[in-house]
Amino acid sequence: MASHGFWSLGGDNAGANTGSQSPSTPRAWCQAAAQKLSGGFGSKLCALLNVGEVEKPAEPAAEQPPQTAAGSCGCNKSCTCTKSTDVGFSDLYSTDLLPAMNGDTKTMTFLQEVVDILLAYIVESFDRETKVIDFHYPNELLQLNNWELQDEPATLDDILISCRATLKYAIKTAHPRYFNQLSTGLDMVGLAADWLTSTANTNMFTYEVAPVFVLLEYVTLKKMREIIGWSDGRGDGIFSPGGAISNMYAMLLARFKMFPEVKEKGMSSVPRLAAFTSEHSHFSIKKGAAALGIGTESVICIKADECGKLIPADLERRILEAKQKGFVPFFVSATAGTTVYGAFDPLIAISDICRKYNIWFHVDARVWFLPLSRPNNQTHYLRWSRSADKRTLVRFASGVNTNRPQSDPTTENMHFFGLNKPP
Ligand SMILES: Cc1ncc(COP(=O)(O)O)c(C=O)c1O
Repeated sequence: MASHGFWSLGGDNAGANTGSQSPSTPRAWCQAAAQKLSGGFGSKLCALLNVGEVEKPAEPAAEQPPQTAAGSCGCNKSCTCTKSTDVGFSDLYSTDLLPAMNGDTKTMTFLQEVVDILLAYIVESFDRETKVIDFHYPNELLQLNNWELQDEPATLDDILISCRATLKYAIKTAHPRYFNQLSTGLDMVGLAADWLTSTANTNMFTYEVAPVFVLLEYVTLKKMREIIGWSDGRGDGIFSPGGAISNMYAMLLARFKMFPEVKEKGMSSVPRLAAFTSEHSHFSIKKGAAALGIGTESVICIKADECGKLIPADLERRILEAKQKGFVPFFVSATAGTTVYGAFDPLIAISDICRKYNIWFHVDARVWFLPLSRPNNQTHYLRWSRSADKRTLVRFASGVNTNRPQSDPTTENMHFFGLNKPP
């Protein structure tokens, strides 16, 4: 059975430390996880899952399979579903579907079946009476279904069963009781767009290969630049697949704008650089500095106040200190919606300091920006961006639209990265 490797966790270690407990119980799994995972993650997981002292051992899955284990339909509720055996997919393979000869009817029937599964899942996700997740510990889940990649091709029937099983054990992110700081809910129009882009299945290399998508990218970026107040939507921008990489792009751009020769000559052509960010900023700022050869020690963390906002006076002090030590301050990254507190750094004060010392100013603007920027909800932040000076790099992320590029399997999407006109 496929319970080896990381997720089995029980292994010899856990056995030694859990006495007579079999690692197949939640408690034993947690204890093993607590040992194996660094940073107290395992213990936190156990606390979160309430695996306490009087833990009822999990029934071995093989003895008490869920009503709908592999081989049956995989539906979440009791059902008399016979789809997996009735529709005649048990003798068909992907090679029977288009572009196979006469594959059109089989293709349509198969895809219709998939759509039915997805639609049933969507409707169920909004039902308060259902669970947000049908949770199982990894070692149990490995036994409930055969997740291993087989050498033999799967029948279409197997594929449908896997689709149902995948959704059965998935977390229902659209569920009214599902809460997450980054993503929640399901936007039906966005979902339709996602299905559409997957069906079109194209690259965005050139206009010739994706005429409509290239135009849509152009008009959407322009609109986003208008929203943040850049006149006539002028400037430039790209969509990027995530926040961490956007933060690195910001640093890359700031360095390039200040020292264009770095492109050809590399880091030996630039002085010792210093970047500044709040101690509450996302770790990707340091990661970006590492990847770009700037070095994590060149990222200077500025103190935050009790609300988690960067303290401008400390920023100015550290900039002067760095200059005295021979560093060239080139980049300040403020956050509009920090990861943990959701704090907004004082953008105007920070941008004034950046202007004073001629430093590129980047705003890592997280999921809260777009909802706040609706016309009737003019915020302090929006007013700031309207008056933003030219030396500004902005990155916005929003979960508003679920039309995400295929490279971004998360629900936080539509990362827009804009570079204001150079001074
Ligand atoms: C403020 C902030 N910036 C950047 C990131 C990184 O975003 P991503 O996970 O999309 O790379 C996060 C992620 O939580 C964040 O909270």
